[in-house]
Amino acid sequence: MTQNQHPKRYTVTAALPYTNGPVHIGHLAGVYIPADIYVRYLRAKKQDVIYICGSDEHGVPITIRAQKEGVTPQQIVDKYHAIIKQSFADFGISFDNYSRTSAPIHHQTASDFFKKMYDAGQFIEESAFQLYDEKAGQFLADRFVIGTCPKCGNESSYGDQCEKCGTSHNATDLINPKSAITGNTPSLKETKHWYLPLDQYQDWLKEWILEGHKNDWKSNVLGQVKSWLDDGLKPRAVTRDLDWGIPVPVAGADGKVLYVWFDAPIGYISSTKEWAAREGKDWKPYWQSPDTKLLHFIGKDNIVFHCIIFPAMLKAEGSFIVPENVPANEFLNLESNKISTSKNWAVWLHEYLLDFPGKQDVLRYVLTANAPETKDNDFTWKDFQARNNNELVAILGNFVNRVMVLTHKYYHGVVPVSSRYFTELDQIQTFATQIGTSIEHYKFREALQELMNLARLGNGFLQENEPWKKVGEQPEEVQNIMFAAIQITAALAHLAEPFLPFMSAKLKKMLLISDTPWDEVTVLEGHYLIAAGHQLGASELLFDKIEDEAIQKQLDKLEATKMQNVLDQKVVEPQKELITYEQFVAMDIRIGTIVEAEKVAKANKLLKLTVAVGIDTRTIVSGIAEHFTPEEIIGQQVQVLVNLAPRNLRGIDSHGMILMTESKDGKLKFVAPQGEDIPDGATVR
Ligand code: MF3
Ligand code: ZN
Repeated sequence: MTQNQHPKRYTVTAALPYTNGPVHIGHLAGVYIPADIYVRYLRAKKQDVIYICGSDEHGVPITIRAQKEGVTPQQIVDKYHAIIKQSFADFGISFDNYSRTSAPIHHQTASDFFKKMYDAGQFIEESAFQLYDEKAGQFLADRFVIGTCPKCGNESSYGDQCEKCGTSHNATDLINPKSAITGNTPSLKETKHWYLPLDQYQDWLKEWILEGHKNDWKSNVLGQVKSWLDDGLKPRAVTRDLDWGIPVPVAGADGKVLYVWFDAPIGYISSTKEWAAREGKDWKPYWQSPDTKLLHFIGKDNIVFHCIIFPAMLKAEGSFIVPENVPANEFLNLESNKISTSKNWAVWLHEYLLDFPGKQDVLRYVLTANAPETKDNDFTWKDFQARNNNELVAILGNFVNRVMVLTHKYYHGVVPVSSRYFTELDQIQTFATQIGTSIEHYKFREALQELMNLARLGNGFLQENEPWKKVGEQPEEVQNIMFAAIQITAALAHLAEPFLPFMSAKLKKMLLISDTPWDEVTVLEGHYLIAAGHQLGASELLFDKIEDEAIQKQLDKLEATKMQNVLDQKVVEPQKELITYEQFVAMDIRIGTIVEAEKVAKANKLLKLTVAVGIDTRTIVSGIAEHFTPEEIIGQQVQVLVNLAPRNLRGIDSHGMILMTESKDGKLKFVAPQGEDIPDGATVR
């Protein structure tokens, strides 16, 4: 298979996010930032490129979220589509089009796609027994069912995919399945579906990916594909018994919709059509011409769908090209725990912007520097702060600031004339090439490192030449130095654009320069980025220090989330078996007052209490020592079961039991009488 070395155009897609929640840092780091860097670079290279995305609005996660919030699926997708779209715009994710799979153009495109395959006899039509929840009156597809993964033993695998090992399977393969709606064990009910015979594509996939792309696809992607193919591909149902989705466009398919993973990737095509219609372009070359380089940026949980199922669909349909690469990333964790929408364990983009307004590029920087390119990585707020303060402020911001301030101080902001060429400037072209090569190989961390090395070079250059020491005696040399430093600054403005678009725009405005194509970001003797005599604009700080308080606030927020999750997990105990009235009145419960309390030696949990219960004053041993000090409970009124048969605890006879309950966060509390003055010995009934 030949590589598309010099494609005429690029179609770059980023996974369509599910509209079952807002987007978080994991989304940005894994998919949208790398793809954004890539397309911004290609645009600067004057390439024909489109960056395509949209909201994934079908599928079970949406329905489940709607049930949880007590609204319709349409309300859910409208809400989150708007939030997600805004977040992407706020962070400078420069899609050429952001569509949604509920759009009519998508319904049409996906239906036509299915219809064409159907008419060509490319599906197997089969009735089979599927999991059915009798109580909910519903088939249990995908995330509606949870059970044990047949491959890795994970006990909370979904019906269509195990998030632990990445395997995708049929719901009926799950061991011990349970309905996610009612918790019931499902029964089996017969239903008709259409299957894509993936086994028929096995050989083609093997040759195309494992042989054709063994050298240019990422090893994590090849590894997953290989494991799939080694297991042997099986037919997969591409329709579902659900009421939310795109109706199956054939007769006799009432109540059935397309499987979300069938329709969603077609969303890339619909979104391209939407873009083309708006821009007056033809969408077809971007999807059908072999001189187009098609790239899918995704997270690792999407590999099977983009490397096996969607390519098989594209191949089967017949008029489309297949991707040239699928640069999937691993996952980003947050403070050592897996990011989770349902557990609210995330840094939500819209919330970040409220706490750090204007600091989009800081997050873009940290997420790129720490991107999960080859393995799962961890985002920590301490690292965020350190990278801002020690890298963006101290290296990049500091260099630019020194150049701007000195140029204004020495020359009122006019670029001085130079009579000497510093060979350091040759390196600008080298940096532009190296950064570009790294980006072309999807090594975005490495590319960003190179960019920072150019800023380091600038700092080193100033440090070595010390214009501030020479300004009195060697004015001409200082002009030479500053002229060169200004060239490095301009190069930074251009080369930072794919990574830090906001900073780049601000710096270009400070320098009063416009965009320069990537390949022209070169300085040679006689060829400069900014000419002598050019007037610079006002200087502003590009980055500022992030203080400990701001970081602590974020850590506190996560701590509160952790607490909340503990509380949410508390389940109400089920009711005990029925008792008779006689059994109830047999219990003699009285009000009493604790008059003495002391610790029981060598027993962490026990307090020896002396309690006045009206009838008498007696000894009761109670397991509350971890919750109360003896001093604080003296005088406390309590309820006491007084006719409990005496028990000997650690050598002390205990004559009764104090009634306790538990607060939300697990602390023991007395069930004390309230308000009115109640005498010791009063009965509780
Ligand atoms: N919504 C899916 C997810 O968030 C990704 C869909 S990608 C597409 O995991 F190809 F189907 F569009
Ligand atoms: Zn598994």
